Amino acid sequence: SQPGGVARAVSAALAREPVNLPRLSVVYGSQTGNAKRLAEQFARTAETAGLQVRLLRADAYPTRELKNERLLVVVISTQGDGDPPDDARGFVEFVLGKRAPQLAELKFGVLGLGDSSYPKFCEIGRLLDERLAELGASRLLDRAEADVDFDRVARPWAERALQVAREQLKAHAPLATVTPLRPAAAAAGWTREKPFSAEVIANQRLTGRGSDKDIRHIELSLEGASLHYEPGDALGLWPRNPPALVDAVLETLQLDGNAPVSVDELTQPLRLWLSEHRELTRLSRPLLAQHAALAGSADLNRLLSPEHSAQLQKILADYQIIDLLRSWPASWSAEELVAALRPLTPRLYSIASSRSVVGDEAHLTVAHVAYEAFGSTHWGAASHYLASREEAARVPVFIEHNERFRLPRDSSRDVIMIGPGTGVAPFRGFVQERAATGAAGRNWLLFGNPHFRSDFLYQTEWQEALKKGSLNRLDLAFSRDQAEKIYVQHRLAEHGAELYRWLENGAHLYVCGDATRMARDVHEALIEVAVSHGGKSREDAVEYVNQLQQQGRYARDVY
Ligand code: 2AM
Repeated sequence: SQPGGVARAVSAALAREPVNLPRLSVVYGSQTGNAKRLAEQFARTAETAGLQVRLLRADAYPTRELKNERLLVVVISTQGDGDPPDDARGFVEFVLGKRAPQLAELKFGVLGLGDSSYPKFCEIGRLLDERLAELGASRLLDRAEADVDFDRVARPWAERALQVAREQLKAHAPLATVTPLRPAAAAAGWTREKPFSAEVIANQRLTGRGSDKDIRHIELSLEGASLHYEPGDALGLWPRNPPALVDAVLETLQLDGNAPVSVDELTQPLRLWLSEHRELTRLSRPLLAQHAALAGSADLNRLLSPEHSAQLQKILADYQIIDLLRSWPASWSAEELVAALRPLTPRLYSIASSRSVVGDEAHLTVAHVAYEAFGSTHWGAASHYLASREEAARVPVFIEHNERFRLPRDSSRDVIMIGPGTGVAPFRGFVQERAATGAAGRNWLLFGNPHFRSDFLYQTEWQEALKKGSLNRLDLAFSRDQAEKIYVQHRLAEHGAELYRWLENGAHLYVCGDATRMARDVHEALIEVAVSHGGKSREDAVEYVNQLQQQGRYARDVY
């Protein structure tokens, strides 16, 4: 069964229960689905153990009930730049804000998720945990902070949380055997843990000569997999590290790739650990700390103190692991290295096709990350893995459903799609789907990239779609074809009156692409449109855009 199905079943069962029975509320905020999956597993296990549980997405949590809550578990991720997930914004603002009530009777636990290559690692989890305590609530157990390999921290935390929650509710909970937490595996078929080996059937460069970017159109065959996806879903890919990078690490540390290494009850050659099981590109703070200790480097150790956090941030952003190893020599044993590196995790790509058009295939739009730094070529693990696969190669994949990024159920609604760069990917799937199903609503795409000549991704397809009427409007923002930068949000502002009319007419709006700059600026531009063309005060305009989000008419898939 699907994760969403479990959530619905659990909340449907719970909706019938009287509200004031002592129970455990499990609230999650999730951007890519990991926090959601963990919360669902936790709720399910707690139910099996006989607890009354209610599972809620943070934006569905009735905040006025917080003051009556007795037992609360929050599972929440932090986006790269320290933001809450989109589905938890309101909840986080409420708890951190001035209107939050005193919570002397509440017992709670927070599991934060994040990525330790970012400086604001698990910041939202930390803020919520500290704020709940400040409001008078007491901790059921200490907060845990889980990195991209979240199972390692999340599982023991969840087991402990369940144990303490049961002790709290023991008067009411019948004794039942607790089934151990298992990774979320679907009942049947291919999953994150058991990926499908998909054949690469096309790998073409979309960007032309003269472009700074190497953006690929990749087609994968899902034949025989019965892997179903909807437009808006993502494809998970397990990458392998570039062989040249594995060699460089072995050489720098003077380690033998054939030496067997045993970690976590698995013994295999070091080379295999490094190529398929460990993160070898993105540097994390804990690894840097351990390297600093081994290198005995005063400079590096200094970086770890709070007053140097800006420099640390810069190192984490600019250096890959190999650059650290080369810049500050230290001697690592093979076991230490494998234990310190984070497990390799799959990368998610928005699917750029609709099954109604491409059948048993999934298409991706992938920016190949490859650049020169510190005198050598650097790559993005997954994008390089994909870009360097030739036709007929096979890659391990699974589908990650994204229920929050869906075409309107009512296909007569208009849609506005904002997707600069590779953010255009899901909209190719949207437009295909709307054409194939004969959706009556209009389709408006806003696309941007540096140059018209070299970076107009899927140009002929869009022109074809315009001709056929499956695309009704296309606005382009080629940022570097003139002296001043032109971005998609400038086009939004220029066509603000039209945009506002579409929204007032019930249109659904989607944003996909860069989270830190683009999505923020687009959000701001939408508020501006509501001010200029809706005659609203700034405060009302902010509320108007929030309402669109709450109604599921403004969805983002940003990274
Ligand atoms: P630039 O690289 O010329 O600055 C896709 O990456 C497109 O998004 C590029 O044209 C890029 O322009 C543009 N872009 C960069 N920053 C942006 C921002 N804050 N808002 C919108 N688009 C942006």
